[in-house]
Formats: sequence, structure tokens, C-alpha cells
Amino acid sequence: MPLHLVQHPLVHDALATLRDATTSPEIFRHMAVRISLLLACEATRDVPTVATRVNTPIGPAEGRRVRDGVVVVPVLRAGLGMLDAVLELIPTARVGHIGLQRDEMTAVASQYYSKLPTDLSDSFVLMIDPMLATGGSAVAALDLIKHAGGREVRMICIVAAPEGIALVEKHHPHVHIYTPAIDHGLNDHKYIVPGLGDFGDRLYGT
Ligand code: PRP
Ligand code: URA
Repeated sequence: MPLHLVQHPLVHDALATLRDATTSPEIFRHMAVRISLLLACEATRDVPTVATRVNTPIGPAEGRRVRDGVVVVPVLRAGLGMLDAVLELIPTARVGHIGLQRDEMTAVASQYYSKLPTDLSDSFVLMIDPMLATGGSAVAALDLIKHAGGREVRMICIVAAPEGIALVEKHHPHVHIYTPAIDHGLNDHKYIVPGLGDFGDRLYGT
């Protein structure tokens, strides 16, 4: 399957800080932005571009600019911690939002919000959600993106479990997943082991 294991040392340096239980929400947010920037660079290696020409102080130079049509979809709420980083790299991107919440007892995700740009068929879609655990949230979000016409879809996550990867592969085999870490698995509460805990709670101090 199109699974991309990102090995960059700067990514893993940031990940170690995110995993550390003593990291404060302030530093956690900071590292979430840093790692998201680096992961987004990897996930956009083949983002469509158009040729351009600019004038340097010395003369004309050929160049490339990112083509319009990039759409970023954060999965609320934790995905919001990655959004600014992606928009820093691609300020012209449009943003769709999908709100999903796992039930605390069953870990089954239910949808409470969805607002996507209409017709994603020509878009380069980057779905961002830091944790891929059971995969239920990712599959639900990808279903919505596909329903809106999304065909060229990449998912960026910060920690993945084998169970989540397998579920996405089963339901959305063409979606490329970018992650620096595939952890051991899930505990009885469906948290990733060793993971980093509850990303949203650590990001927002809840
Ligand atoms: C977290 C995370 C993913 C989901 C992953 O969100 O951000 O969306 O869990 O788990 P899964 O693969 O088992 O579905 P959560 O539901 O805790 O909501 P939050 O982002 O609002 O904290
Ligand atoms: N959501 C999180 O934030 N962390 C996990 O380990 C699993 C789901």
C-alpha cells in the first residue's frame, strides 16, 4: 500500500518531545507545528505546479509555483494543531473541516461537523489528523472526502497503529499515508501504545 514512513531526523526529534509525558501544552503545540511542517513537505513532493517566469534583479528566471487546487482537511479537533503549518507552506490552499469524536467507552467515532469545498475531483487533498489508532476516524473522514469527489488524497499523521493502517488500506487502498511512526498497537482503551497519549487533550490542556 502507499505507506510512507518518514525517517527525517528532525521529524523524530520533534516526535520524541511530543511523546514525552513531561512536555507542556505550550511546547507540545510548538512541536506539533514543527513536525507538521516537515511531514507536509514530504507529503507534497508531487503537488502539482505550474511553470512561471520571474525577474530577478539580474534578469528573467524560470520557476515553478504550486498550482491552485490544494485542499487541506483537518479532522477536528486534534488536526487543527497541524493546520497552520500546512497553510504556512501552501497559503493558497482551501480548508475543509471534518468534526469527529471518539466515544470514550467504545472508541467509535461519530461525526458532529463537516464542511468541505464542493467537488474535490480536481483537488490535491491533504487530510491531517495526528493519530491513526483504530482507523475508524480516518475511514469516516476519507468516506466524506471521497463522497465530495476527492480522488488524489494524502493523509498525514504523527503516530499510527498497525490496526489503523490496515483499516485505511482495506477501505481506501489508494490513499497515501505519511507517518514517521508505526507503533506496537492499541491498549484496552484503544489508545496507541506507546503513542503519546490523547493528542487533543495535550494540545489544548483539557
Ligand atoms: C483522536 C484523533 C483521531 C482519532 C484517532 O480524536 O485526533 O481523530 O482520535 O482514533 P481512531 O483511529 O481510533 O478513530 P478524538 O476522537 O479523541 O477527538 P479530538 O481530536 O477532539 O480529541
Ligand atoms: N486518539 C489519541 O489522541 N491518541 C490515541 O492514542 C488514540 C486516539
